[in-house]
Parts: sequence; structure tokens; C-alpha cells
Amino acid sequence: MRIGVLTSGGDCPGLNAVIRSVVHRAVVDHGDDVIGFHDGWRGLLEADCRKLDLDAVSGVLATGGTLLGSSRVRPGQLVDGVQRALDNVATLGLDAVIPIGGEGTLKAARLLSDAGLPLVGVPKTIDNDIAGTDLTFGFDTAVGVATDALDRLKTTAESHQRVLVVEVMGRHTGWIALHAGLAAGAHVVVVPERPFDIDRLTERVARRFAAGERFAIVVAAEGAKPAAGSMPFETGDTDAYGHERFAGVARQLSAELERRLGKEARPVILGHVQRGGTPTAYDRVLATRFGWHAVEAVHAGAYGTMTALRGTGIHLVPLADATQELKTVPAERYAEADCVL
Ligand code: F6P
Repeated sequence: MRIGVLTSGGDCPGLNAVIRSVVHRAVVDHGDDVIGFHDGWRGLLEADCRKLDLDAVSGVLATGGTLLGSSRVRPGQLVDGVQRALDNVATLGLDAVIPIGGEGTLKAARLLSDAGLPLVGVPKTIDNDIAGTDLTFGFDTAVGVATDALDRLKTTAESHQRVLVVEVMGRHTGWIALHAGLAAGAHVVVVPERPFDIDRLTERVARRFAAGERFAIVVAAEGAKPAAGSMPFETGDTDAYGHERFAGVARQLSAELERRLGKEARPVILGHVQRGGTPTAYDRVLATRFGWHAVEAVHAGAYGTMTALRGTGIHLVPLADATQELKTVPAERYAEADCVL
């Protein structure tokens, strides 16, 4: 068979492990050809690609980023390009395409699949918010980076008797905030799923100082917002890809806490460091398993699906199920974590 592969959307540790796994399983075990498209859907729309052999993926298992490059596609861009994508797949003689990506990529994959393109998706995002799979690779790495940062920030916060408000990634969901907050013993965690009550948050931190503690760590997912009208809050705007551009929850929350508590507060934005660098062993394994199963799904003709972790097994779920809505943090998870407001 001839199989195309591409990585699209924000990058994520473990992408190279998937590509490597696809090449190993397809080329070595099945005798297939693997064609890698450059920079995500752009490569497919412009037939910009190269053949991937074992040499192309040698030494990439532990590397971050994506050896194929990635890009974001504006909504509508792919809708207009469906026929071009189908034509390019036919011209290149591809039997199937494996797109590796997050919410936007998988929605685009569904559109192309519905239009007749044989494909099997692989979910990726550090945010862990793709429905249908228990976990996405990249999440474990991002949580590790954020936890390490929080551990480090505790010592400087304590030295200066400060409140540090640490912003982690998570546009729509608080998975990274919850897990890193729990792992590092943060004192308060705020998440997009639950608008936070600034009075309760202030009281939590004030109680801590009143009890003689010398610092406090607040973790805020970038998409967290206060309950409407509870404090002045800029909400940001939307970028060219239809994504909300945040106005800085950490900056706004730390200013508000400093004003209310009379304690020094500082915002810390972890940003893209959470997405960079080497994947953890867990993410390498999950990514490798996803790649292996995606190739098997192509050989089985199980198109219009996505690889998914369910418990400890890898399954295929219909793209339609995976792209309906995002996987938010379930309410019972908050009950287990008294740091979540
Ligand atoms: O989707 C993953 C993610 O890391 C989000 O948490 C974050 O909002 C976004 O990517 C940032 O994307 P960009 O690379 O476009 O700044």
C-alpha cells in the first residue's frame, strides 16, 4: 500500500514517535510506501511531500516537535480544498492518509473522510481534550514540565512571601491545570470548565497566610475566567483560525489578588515550553502504539476512524464520535481535588 502521513495543528511531544512507528510498521513489516506531507494539510493541498524511509525516522523517537512540520488551517480553507486534496491523493497513488492532530485536524479529517478520502486519524494534544480517547500523547510531558515549574516556583514564592499565579495551557479544559496542580500541591486551581468565584479564591489564599504560611501557588488554565461580573476581566479576541486569543488570566488574577490581599503577587506564564522538548517515556509508548494501530487500521480498511486509548487497550473510534464535543474534566475529578475552586 501507499500511505500518506501528516501532522497538523499545534505541535506536541510524541509526534515524531508516531511518524516513526507508522514507518516501522508500514515499511518494515508490511512493505508499504510511506509519504510524509510537509506542514500539515498545506502539504496535502499543495502535494508538497517526500518519501519516508527508515533513515528518515532514525533517531527521532525521543525528539520533540515534528520532522514533517505543522501548520494551522483557517476554517473554510480546507472546505474549499476538498477536491484538490482528493485529486492529490489520487495523483500520488495513495491508498490512505493518516493525519495526526487535535480537535481542528480531526474535524478536517472527518470532512475529508465524508468526502471519500480513506483515512485513519491519530489524536494528539497536550490539552488532553479529545473525546473518545482516555488520553492523548503529549499530555503527560506537558504535565511533567508544568509540575517541575511549579515545584521550582514554590521556593522563590516562599523566599519572597508572594502569591504566584501560574498560567498553564488549556484553552477549553483544565486537564493540565488539574494534574500539574495536584502533582505539585498547588493551593488553588482554576479551570475553564468552572468560572471561579474571586471572593472564595481570595479567602482561600488569605486563610493560608493567616495560618502562618509564607506563600501561595495558584494554577490557572489559560481559558479560566471569573464568574461573570465578579471582577473586572478582559476576555481577549479571536485569531484568524477561530481560536480565542486570551487576555491573560494570570496577569489579571495576580493584579486582583495583590490588590485584595495586600501581598505581592506575580503572574508566571509557562506557555509553549509545555509543548517543547523530549516526550516522556509514557508519551513515547502511547504515540508508538497509536502509530502501529493506525497502520493496522489502514490495512483493515477501517477508514473514518481514529485510534484511541480505552483503559489499557488501543481501539478505533469513529471520527464522528471523537469530533462532536471536547472532553472536559468530569465534575467528580474536582471533588477529589480540594485545590480546585
Ligand atoms: O491546542 C494546544 C494548545 O497548546 C493550547 O493549549 C494553546 O491555547 C494553543 O495550543 C496555543 O497555540 P499556538 O501555538 O497557536 O499559540
